[in-house]
Amino acid sequence: MRVKIILAAVAGVALLSGASLAGWNEGGGEQDEALKLKPDLENGLEVYEVCAACHLPEGWGKPDGTFPMLAGQHKNVIIKQLADIRALNRDNPTMYPFALPRSIGGAQSIADVSAYIAKLPMNPEPGYGDGKDLALGEKLYKENCVRCHGDNGQGIPEKYFPRIQAQHYKYLVRQFEWIRDGKRRNANPDMVKQISGFSDKDMRAVMDFVSRQKPPKEIVAPKGWENPDFE
Ligand code: HEC
Ligand code: HEC
Repeated sequence: MRVKIILAAVAGVALLSGASLAGWNEGGGEQDEALKLKPDLENGLEVYEVCAACHLPEGWGKPDGTFPMLAGQHKNVIIKQLADIRALNRDNPTMYPFALPRSIGGAQSIADVSAYIAKLPMNPEPGYGDGKDLALGEKLYKENCVRCHGDNGQGIPEKYFPRIQAQHYKYLVRQFEWIRDGKRRNANPDMVKQISGFSDKDMRAVMDFVSRQKPPKEIVAPKGWENPDFE
């Protein structure tokens, strides 16, 4: 009995340390598989029912930052983040059990739910910061973020650079801090370098600015929209 427990512990440690060695976006495994598959939106909705418990039926998350908005995120980015979370390359203990194959299925389900989420219209009223340092935020954004997240926070889907515009401020701050301080293991190393000198004030200013960036009108929902798939 004792031997079995020790073996299990060793295997667990090996798994975790293996995950922490993985580089940024090496691909392979489920990520590559899911990217190649043709998504089935009906199954995507079925899978999304599990996700809606936290990310809400609209995919809008919560302004208090506990759950991010997913709606409108690029399909490639969602696939990468889901595959990373499943492979323990991005820690998400709250969501992890719900994202496993035994809960939602394999690579096809990842492809399906990611396509479903990407098509949901975005939240017109995300959570913002206090609005006191927006000029500083804009300056920092222009100097440090445009080359990867685009001039308006729209991201670059082919490169897996996420859309960050109109995301909840508190979620943005948490991720930014984790990326800066090395806590988000799947972070892009070039971004880590770019933001290493950011103070907490700089971080809050730039994230406040980003939360207020406006996505294209066509992909934003009207105020009070409810997802008809959940009626
Ligand atoms: C029990 C609550 C919970 C459930 C259920 C859940 N999530 Fe999450 N999810 C979270 C939390 C919390 C985060 C943010 C974690 C963090 O701060 O890093 C998150 C983050 C994510 C992210 C990363 C977003 C980004 O901007 O990088 C994706 C993608 C995601 N979830 C997709 C899903 C999908 C798809 C499902 C359903 C299969 C799902 N989630 C189910 C709680 C949940
Ligand atoms: C070299 C390219 C690069 C630069 C420069 C960069 N980022 Fe990023 N950023 C990324 C990538 C790639 C990710 C996703 C990493 C991953 O896959 O986990 C990311 C993730 C993020 C996230 C988390 C998004 C989410 O949904 O969880 C935030 C917030 C963010 N970046 C903000 C910024 C801000 C603000 C700046 C400028 C101060 C910046 N980034 C500069 C490439 C970059």
